[in-house]
Amino acid sequence: MPCSLPHCAAPLTNRDRLVGMSAPIISPSILAADFSRLGEELTAIDTADWVHVDIMDGHFVPNLSFGPDITATVHRLTDKPLDVHLMIEEPEKWVETYAKAGAHTIIFHVEAVADEQAAVDLAQSIRGLGVRAAFSIKPGTAIEPWLDKLQYFDEVLVMSVEPGFGGQKFMPEMLEKVRLLRRSIDEQKLNTVIEIDGGISPETIEAAAAAGCDAFVAGSAVFKAEDPTSTVERLRNLAAGV
Ligand code: DX5
Ligand code: ZN
Repeated sequence: MPCSLPHCAAPLTNRDRLVGMSAPIISPSILAADFSRLGEELTAIDTADWVHVDIMDGHFVPNLSFGPDITATVHRLTDKPLDVHLMIEEPEKWVETYAKAGAHTIIFHVEAVADEQAAVDLAQSIRGLGVRAAFSIKPGTAIEPWLDKLQYFDEVLVMSVEPGFGGQKFMPEMLEKVRLLRRSIDEQKLNTVIEIDGGISPETIEAAAAAGCDAFVAGSAVFKAEDPTSTVERLRNLAAGV
């Protein structure tokens, strides 16, 4: 099925391959890529399922990354679905822009919206743009208040580091949040995908998979590896228990 977004004229391949159907999903974060050769870096992760795009505004997190124009460039350079992680204040002002830039999934932070109802409303407007809706949750935020809202979300991104920087150490205690989510999603018979972000590497991915994650963001572990292509495959095999 071709991409339904109005800006997508070209016939697409990977972009239409939805999650859940092919877990474990590996989503390399281009934050760790060499931007002077972005096209080559994207070719080097041809074995990946998605591309993770980290948007930072210098307010919600103490770091700046890039914005919609680079996102649109990535969209032009790859046919993989873009997993757009908004680490920004007032995400509701930006979802349409990132949908137009080619986001396949838009992830906003629950800490950046007023309350649960505002999060549900935002998820519905994201879905209304033809984009998968997701929320992310910082290490210090409890997941329990969100468990009865999962039906409104296609994905939950559990942060296993404090958002803002790549290359940080994985926080294993975040896997308890993953276990709670896994149990709740299964009990409610939902298809909500659990993705984890921060410090994922060959050393940590198996524990995350065992806790119930379907999708895995990896920045440094992929782009700083000697061979990103085979590292993606290695991560997927480890997550699958192969
Ligand atoms: C952190 C970002 C992550 C980051 C992951 O704020 O959301 O996606 O790029 O980088 P690694 O895999 O190096 O921890
Ligand atoms: Zn991220």
